[in-house]
Amino acid sequence: TLSPLVDQFQRRITYLRLSVTDRCDLRCAYCMPERMTFLPRKDVLSLDEMHDLALGFIARGITKIRLTGGEPLVRRDMIDLVYAIGRRIAADDGHGHLEELTLTTNGTQLPEFADDLYRAGVRRINVSLDTLDRDTFARLTRRDSLPQVLEGLAAAKAAGLRVKLNTVALKGVNEYEIADIIAWAHGQGFDATLIEVMPLGEVEEDRFDHYLPLVAVQDDLARRWTLTPSGHRTGGPARYWDVAETGGRLGLITPLTNNFCEGCNRIRVTATGQLYACLGGNEQVDLRAALRSDDPGAALTDALDLAMKIKPARHSFAIDAPGGAPALTRHMSMTGG
Ligand code: GTP
Ligand code: 5AD
Ligand code: SF4
Repeated sequence: TLSPLVDQFQRRITYLRLSVTDRCDLRCAYCMPERMTFLPRKDVLSLDEMHDLALGFIARGITKIRLTGGEPLVRRDMIDLVYAIGRRIAADDGHGHLEELTLTTNGTQLPEFADDLYRAGVRRINVSLDTLDRDTFARLTRRDSLPQVLEGLAAAKAAGLRVKLNTVALKGVNEYEIADIIAWAHGQGFDATLIEVMPLGEVEEDRFDHYLPLVAVQDDLARRWTLTPSGHRTGGPARYWDVAETGGRLGLITPLTNNFCEGCNRIRVTATGQLYACLGGNEQVDLRAALRSDDPGAALTDALDLAMKIKPARHSFAIDAPGGAPALTRHMSMTGG
């Protein structure tokens, strides 16, 4: 049998984030320019290749897979891949098994797919939503899709999916609305997580203008509510708090003001099959070349062994200097966050 994935800092890698497409039906200002250049389709892995890749990772001890994008649900026949990977949940044929299959989505396609996701074995999803105000949403995402997203959230709830909302905190955009979004999410029975904007990829604006350190937001929320540290851990970058007044859970993801890298359990793969050993770094391994080689099995084993050697101890993010270039030229929609 194949050995589990352990990096040179003795971190067990059990969580794969797989971006299935770089395309998206929204254009969040901090994520993409309006005229985004997407990858040529021939460079993107086929759904069969993604399935092979997922099986290869599961055989090496990956127990959690999160499908991301871009927007994963805009890829044609995507639900077939979800069903196919879902067959590995709790499998016991000696080829490894998945404990969790999940998605990060913008929610626009959930009215159509929420039921299928549940049937395929998905139990929790993360939905990105930065505002509950239709005009703010239209300005921020450059699309008037808030009603569709709200319908999607209702569909997810009705399908029995647990939902976590992800909200990027943006100065001058949604900062005065943050407590309302959290209270609304908790009222719906959703978890809520706030994210600091990260300097990934060229966009049309200067992210520094919208950078809102979450320490300040947290102080503000702590004056309004009783926040107590939660025991909840996902092995991810979020630190969780219980909010007494709403009865809900609040996560904070602060890559720029906090370091959570010591316990990192994850790697990410782009839609073109490039493995990135860290979200905030450039270390990569070409898995597509391995998959398309004469002996894909052996080549994939070697490629994953190499990935374990190059995974850095920690990310190297710093927020854009005012007017400056992003820390990494790659977009978030490549690596899926
Ligand atoms: P879990 O898988 O349940 O832990 O959820 P998650 O919050 O990690 O997943 P989600 O896709 O919702 O990610 C939320 C955001 O957290 C991502 O879009 C990124 O902004 C950030 N994030 C996720 N993983 C990392 C990481 O390894 N490093 C950094 N700096 N940020 C990350
Ligand atoms: N900084 C922080 N979060 C980002 N996201 C996309 N781009 C950025 C960025 N530059 C978020 C989305 C979504 C998640 C996948 O990543 O809003 O919640
Ligand atoms: Fe699409 Fe997510 Fe990027 Fe917004 S943040 S443009 S929803 S990929």
